[in-house]
Parts: sequence; structure tokens; C-alpha cells
Amino acid sequence: MTALTLSTAGAATLRADALVVGVAKGPKGLVVAQGAEAVDKAYDGKLAAVLDALGASGAEGEITKLAAPAGLKVPVVLAVGLGSAPEDDESFDEEVLRRAAGAAARALHGRKKAAFALPLDDASAVTAVAEGALLGAYAFTAYQGGEKKSGNGDKNAGPKQPLAEVALLGAKPRDKEHKAAAERASVVATEVNVARDLVNTPPNDLTPEAFAAVASATAKENGVKVQILDEKALVKGGYGGIMGVGKGSENPPRLVKLSYTHPKAEKTLAFVGKGITYDSGGISLKPAGHNETMKCDMAGAAAVFASVVAVAKLGLRVNVTGWLALAENMPSGSATRPGDVLRMYSGKTVEVLNTDAEGRLVLGDALTKASEDNPDAIVDVATLTGAMVLALGDRTFGVMANDDAFRTSLHEIAEEVGEASWPMPLPEELRKTMDSPTADMANMGVRMGGGLVAGLFLREFVGEGITWAHLDIAGPAFHEGAPYGYTPKGGTGSAVRTLVRLAERTATGDLG
Ligand code: BES
Ligand code: MN
Ligand code: ZN
Repeated sequence: MTALTLSTAGAATLRADALVVGVAKGPKGLVVAQGAEAVDKAYDGKLAAVLDALGASGAEGEITKLAAPAGLKVPVVLAVGLGSAPEDDESFDEEVLRRAAGAAARALHGRKKAAFALPLDDASAVTAVAEGALLGAYAFTAYQGGEKKSGNGDKNAGPKQPLAEVALLGAKPRDKEHKAAAERASVVATEVNVARDLVNTPPNDLTPEAFAAVASATAKENGVKVQILDEKALVKGGYGGIMGVGKGSENPPRLVKLSYTHPKAEKTLAFVGKGITYDSGGISLKPAGHNETMKCDMAGAAAVFASVVAVAKLGLRVNVTGWLALAENMPSGSATRPGDVLRMYSGKTVEVLNTDAEGRLVLGDALTKASEDNPDAIVDVATLTGAMVLALGDRTFGVMANDDAFRTSLHEIAEEVGEASWPMPLPEELRKTMDSPTADMANMGVRMGGGLVAGLFLREFVGEGITWAHLDIAGPAFHEGAPYGYTPKGGTGSAVRTLVRLAERTATGDLG
């Protein structure tokens, strides 16, 4: 993990492998953003002109690398575009800064130390730049470089490693607010990256059992209590949803409970994550073209796990329980068939019409179980439906809830931390499309509005009177396109920042 330091050293005296500056579109052409005055001076005040001559436009995320002049102690200056310069008394948008820092950090993979001289008007800008840089520096290299290890490849073979150190210039290590902002950013970014690692880990290695073991070890290191139900305990406990999904696999399911408690907490949150370590579709097998990225189907559980650990590291004054509903959805002689009826943990029976609608089955059990503790609110996170991706695209998650104010809060919180989301309804008339002639309900309803149908299914398993929201992260959890800003290819760590902010707001009683 990339180390973060705050530095009061001048840009002209700091040694690093690269110096990052911001460049924006001003009313009269390119302008060098605040924070890089000393760098501009080293170019005789002509940095904007040099960048202009090199073709820079100041567009968001645009990267221009240039040789550093003699006055600086770095070999390379990297200018990152910040878009339109704000009015005189305004600051750059936090998400613009986060993305710019991320794009710069990505462009510096393979180097050791980078100093960031971006505009830091206040503590929230420190958080944004620090998060962006640490998230952009992420790379998943665990499975690369095999040739190098066997000694057959050339010496330089192997993946480019992320930046080892990010120094923020202009952030003051002795300023309490700046220090807290940087520490928070470091915890949050570390945990987002943990969630990304879990999502990226191939499903032959990240089985439900392996996921439970990782979660257990890390949680304990951070003072979080862990309880794991294995397949025997799940059968005995009547978890028909989780067992029904997991029983077709050689890798048996797990239900993990993580409990973080604070002695002075007044509220308790429960986070519930869909953790399908691989979704083949089961007997309703997915066709080729739809299963290549299905290792990502545990992204909800990864987000829940990472968030609970982040909350523990930050020592927030709130109790948070994390539930990881872990199973592998595989077709086999022991797999659930379309037509089977499962008895859920709640006692409700479900006719499985499509074994590929498995997320709702594992979540149903976990939601009922989480409700037994009577938390103040439950939020589940799941790569639940392709329909949500069709509706909102691959960067925005859907927010559904049984409480309008809570849904609005989650949407606002996501916005605040730079995660795109959109409130979605739970139309009552869709509920009856899951009526079953055989069981209490079916695991599928109409195709149109499939994401909302899935939300309505989950709602059935939330305890009476408990505030609940559902985040369908099927779109943003796994990024298949080219990297942008601080978002890499593959696992993104979607929803971690939102969950952590929700916990922070709940801790301070500031839920709007
Ligand atoms: N894991 C998938 C949803 C998904 C799709 C996640 C694309 C990420 C990207 C889920 O288990 C699923 O297969 N859902 C079905 C439900 C349907 C059978 C009712 C779907 O959306 O097609
Ligand atoms: Mn599925
Ligand atoms: Zn799935």
C-alpha cells in the first residue's frame, strides 16, 4: 500500500520521482492551479505557456509530462487537467480533485515517490487529493510476474508496481484538521483497495471458505468480533436460501458476522453483502459472454467487509455489524433445480424459477438474520441484477429503500463522497409478479423493472419496522472499460466510501 505523507517542504526543495501540478482552463487561457507557485517560478513563471505549447488544454484528467528545470529536485513534472478554473472565491470540486489526483497517480505507476502540489484550500480538499492519489496508485499484481520468479524472463519483467509514497505539498502535518483528513483518507482508500483486491482475486482462490478466513483474520486484527457459520451450521440453522445456492458447489457456503462495537455508541447499523464468489448461473447456466466477469459477484460482501474494518480503524462512535453471505453458484448433480422450493431462514418458502437469481436467496437469509438484532438501519449491498446495469449504466448504483428519507440520505451521502448513485422506486404492483402457485413466492417476477423486482423480493425478508436500504452495485462494482480518474480496470471498491460515510454520519447523529 502506498504511504501518504504531508509535507511543508517547498516544491523546489523536495526530492521525488515526479511532481504533480494542476492546470485549468481560465477565462483567458491555461492557468496553473494554486499550490504550484514554486514550480511555476522554476519555469520562470512560464509553466502555463510551456504547457500550452505542448498542447495541454486543461481538460479534466488530461496528463502532460514535462522535463523539470534545474531549480527543482525532481526529474519530471506532471501536469494534470482540472477542467474549468473556479471563480475567484470558489474552490475546485472535490471529485474533480480526487479524479485528477487519481489520474496522475495512475500515470506514475512504476515510480517510487511522487509529490502532489495540487490546490488544497481546506481539509476536504486534502481528503479528496489524498484519496484520489491512493486510489489511483492501486494495481492488482498478485498474479503477474510469474516469468520473473521462475528466472526465465528478463530482469525487468513483471508488473509495474504502484507508487510507494505520495507526499502532499501544502497540507500541514501540524494542522489538526489536515492531519485527520489525511488519516481518514488513508484508512478509507486502503479499505477501498482491499475490496478491489478481493473482487479481483480469481474465484478458484477466493472461495467462500477462503473469503471467510481472510475476513476473520483481518477483523480480529482490528478488534472486530467474528462469527462464522459453516455449511453444517447453515443446514442446522435452517438457512435454506444460502444452502440452496451453495449446495451445487464443491466449495461450501459460509455466513460471516462481523461485529464492531463502540462503548459510547448510541446507534447500530447492519451492513449485509452479497458474496457469490462465482456466479455461473447454476442450472440456469449463464451463456458464454455473461460469465467471464462473474468473480465480481461478491463485490457487495467485499464492500461490507472493507467498510466494517474502516469503521473499526477510524474508531467511530457507532456499532456496525457486517454480514457476508458467501456462496458459489454452480451447476452440478447436487445443485438446486429450477422448480425446487427452498425454505428460507425466515420460514417463508421460495420456488426457485431461475437459479441465476441467486443473490436474493442468500441475501434474504442474511437480511432476516440481521433483523434479529433489531438494528437502527440495515443497508444491503449487492451486484444483484443486470437490469440495474441496463437502467443506470456501469458507473451508477441504484438505491432502493422501505423509507423515503433514508433512501434520500444514502443518495446524498454517496454524492458527498464522490460515488454516483440514483434513487429507484419499489413499485407495489410488481410484488405480485413473484407470486407462486406452489410456494409463498417465487425468486423471479416480470423481466421489465427486474432490478426493482429484486428489491421487492429482498424487502420481504427485512424485519418488521426496520429501516432498510438496498444498493444494487451490479454496474459500478467491476469496471471493464479503460481506467479513468482513480478508477482502475476490474474491481472498483464501489459502495465502501458510501457505507463509511453513512457510519460517520450515524455516529455524529447527522443523518439529515
Ligand atoms: N450476478 C448477477 C447480476 C449481475 C449482472 C451482476 C451483470 C453484475 C453484472 C445476478 O445473480 C443475476 O444473474 N441476475 C439475473 C436475475 C434474473 C435471472 C431474474 C439477471 O439480472 O439477469
Ligand atoms: Mn446470478
Ligand atoms: Zn449473481
